[in-house]
Amino acid sequence: MMTELNTGVVVTGGASGIGLASAKMLAESGRPVAIWDLDTEKSQRAAADIVSRYDVLALGLGVDVRNNDAIRDAAAKTRAVLPAIGGLVHAAGIVLVTGISDVTEENWAAVLDVNLRAQVLIVKEFLEDFKQCPGAAIVGIASMNATLGNGMIPAYSASKGGMLSLTRSMSDELGRHGIRINAVSPGMIATQMLLNSVDEVALDRFSQTTHLGRLGEPEEIGAVVKFLLSSEASYITGTELVVDGGAIPSQRS
Ligand SMILES: NC(=O)c1ccc[n+]([C@@H]2O[C@H](COP(=O)([O-])OP(=O)(O)OC[C@H]3O[C@@H](n4cnc5c(N)ncnc54)[C@H](O)[C@@H]3O)[C@@H](O)[C@H]2O)c1
Repeated sequence: MMTELNTGVVVTGGASGIGLASAKMLAESGRPVAIWDLDTEKSQRAAADIVSRYDVLALGLGVDVRNNDAIRDAAAKTRAVLPAIGGLVHAAGIVLVTGISDVTEENWAAVLDVNLRAQVLIVKEFLEDFKQCPGAAIVGIASMNATLGNGMIPAYSASKGGMLSLTRSMSDELGRHGIRINAVSPGMIATQMLLNSVDEVALDRFSQTTHLGRLGEPEEIGAVVKFLLSSEASYITGTELVVDGGAIPSQRS
């Protein structure tokens, strides 16, 4: 039951932050990785770094996960390099601060298409690959904002709440093939996305009100992703694992 898995893992958003930390930790455990990110050069650099550090197969591709043709093309390129594909981490994501007043059809779709729609399209693309790999598993990076009500980011919140529902729905069909799917909901993690969207005063205030009194590090999410994709998590599916340092339960002000 507890055999080590060594199938390849596709990591979207793998050139930065949580995706990159997840890719590195998976590679360190011996798993080949394909880094899919909008940023081609950063993806290729990350893959080259992983090959030299961890001595596993790694591939870096420029992919816009909003585009189904791009997903299909990247999947073919990934299959040509990785021996078997038995894992997916969907970490590509964007956040736009709009409140209600600045929501448009375009910016709503931009957020939902990357954060939510891409996950089901990529799983669909790799379904037959996953069926061939015993122990195959998927992790989507959701957010504590799937649960919290932050008025500044309605599309982001809806996309992450949608990920939790999508996880439960897909778990039903995937489970029939022994494929697991789970969501990880980070709190505030020190990555480019957070530093770009939240000012220093808000970050300080957040750190103080979180039970552990600090921001999280991308590796603290990567470790949980690695666990959920491993055989140690063989009976966990259709659920959310919150990794927020005690942000949601906090009543500190
Ligand atoms: N940092 C946090 O505090 C935090 C908290 C909760 C959830 N998350 C989630 O974690 C995930 C990773 O975020 P991060 O903090 O590491 O941010 P990040 O900005 O460092 O990384 C996100 C990556 O996604 C890529 N990306 C964006 N749009 C894409 C597209 N259309 N196609 C392919 N790649 C695309 C970016 O190029 C970037 O490399 C996101 O889904 C985010 O919503 C982050």
